[in-house]
Amino acid sequence: MTITVPSGLFEQAHAAMQRAYAPFSRYHVGCSILSTDGRIYVGCNVENSCFALGHCAEAGAVSQMIVSGSKQIASVLVIANNDTPCTPCGGCRQLIREFASDDAPIYCANQHGVVSVHRLDELLPYSFGPNHLGASS
Ligand code: THU
Repeated sequence: MTITVPSGLFEQAHAAMQRAYAPFSRYHVGCSILSTDGRIYVGCNVENSCFALGHCAEAGAVSQMIVSGSKQIASVLVIANNDTPCTPCGGCRQLIREFASDDAPIYCANQHGVVSVHRLDELLPYSFGPNHLGASS
């Protein structure tokens, strides 16, 4: 099956992955987010000697999107530097969910290319979100 990925999403996540700071795990992750207003934001994982303070790649990309003024995620691509396609960790699924609709595609890539794509609600079913708190956004 051929997976069609929005233009530039893989390349930009791959470039971000190469800038990861991951001296402890040596697991380099890149994330690219396409916002609904057509912009691409990227992040990489940034680890810390105090291990608990490390940041996932998705967190960096979401922060970049919000500070730049985009409001909504259209799709996400996550890539890591080995052969196993990177799926977002549980915390990052929740982070993405804050700004994405249930049907947002999450592309999972290894160092060679995109291997699978999943709807957000497939990765995070029955999720908790702003609607539970009565928030519009
Ligand atoms: N990591 C991410 O950046 N995103 C994920 O969704 C999975 C895990 C990072 C965190 C840590 O720096 C390294 O991968 C190993 O867990």
